[in-house]
Amino acid sequence: MSEAAREESPTHDDTEERAAIAASIPGADDLTPLAQAVAADARKRITLAGRVVPRPPSTRVLTVANQKGGVGKTTTTVNIAAALAQAGSTVLVIDLDPQGNASTALGIEHHSEVPSIYDVLVDGDALSEVVQACPDIDGLWCAPATIDLAGAEIELVSLVARETRLQKAVDAYVSERRAAGEPVDYILLDCPPSLGLLTVNAFVAASEVFIPIQCEYYALEGLSQLLKNIELIRSHLNPRLHVSTILLTMHDARTRLSAQVAEEVRTHFSEQTLDATVPRSVRISEAPSHGQTVMTYDPNSSGALSYLAAAVEMAERGAATAQEES
Ligand SMILES: Nc1ncnc2c1ncn2[C@@H]1O[C@H](COP(=O)(O)OP(=O)(O)OP(=O)(O)O)[C@@H](O)[C@H]1O
Ligand SMILES: [Mg+2]
Repeated sequence: MSEAAREESPTHDDTEERAAIAASIPGADDLTPLAQAVAADARKRITLAGRVVPRPPSTRVLTVANQKGGVGKTTTTVNIAAALAQAGSTVLVIDLDPQGNASTALGIEHHSEVPSIYDVLVDGDALSEVVQACPDIDGLWCAPATIDLAGAEIELVSLVARETRLQKAVDAYVSERRAAGEPVDYILLDCPPSLGLLTVNAFVAASEVFIPIQCEYYALEGLSQLLKNIELIRSHLNPRLHVSTILLTMHDARTRLSAQVAEEVRTHFSEQTLDATVPRSVRISEAPSHGQTVMTYDPNSSGALSYLAAAVEMAERGAATAQEES
């Protein structure tokens, strides 16, 4: 959709009406734990379904990173991206993991013949040459990763400007889309679980870091290493880089461990941590095997509603920051 068309279709702001309906659902005290969970989901559904979020004044580029494996980086990237696109924003996901999990979850072809992010990083191709539209969601695109990317860590070492190759491609793509009157609102970079050159490229290309933290024992281990690396990149390669967003994933409200991890993260990172948390959910883990995000696979599930809540919060916090700065 063009910028002009978007501006011509302002959406009715019904936030207050939604809040009133949501408030009429019985409170937690009167209910059993299962009924409490159902009521909480119903409240979220009423408050969030079909919401249109504010679009940022300029493209927000976020690196989703945590060198710990399996904490929900890819799941968070694709579901936040899908939720933002469904809420009226334009979003590009760049898959920087040779495993290609983000490409799979978005239903994007990524066998070895497909033009991919490898061609951008190693051969200097334009991002627009490799980007594919996500089949299920309007306004969502993906630059896929193929298995070729596994060699890129080594191939990049001998190339000139090895740390800034992605940044150049991203900046060119952002300008190109703006010039075409179809600006991209969010670019989310899904990183592999390591701090190699692919992740360094992502840190240099982005201005924000989005850290998913799994609510498990050892969750905070390695976090200080990640923060140290971000600081190094900031002082040497990218002064704009900062941790803007932290999301607690695989949260289990019934366990004391989840509550302890959540409390510790909120104590250390009170500003960055989103109020929304993502529960452990079978629907979330099933969705990728259908080539889908949970946002289309089961939009009414608690997992989808939580990712929607997180995306709305992220967009609204960004809009508030942009207003303060202007
Ligand atoms: N909220 C959740 N509930 C249930 N399963 C989840 C949830 N989030 C992620 N998973 C599952 O946990 C596994 C790891 O998630 P994911 O692939 O997103 O992590 P990752 O940090 O990207 O991993 P890697 O470091 O390998 O890239 C996957 O099988 C995924 O389906
Ligand atoms: Mg991953």
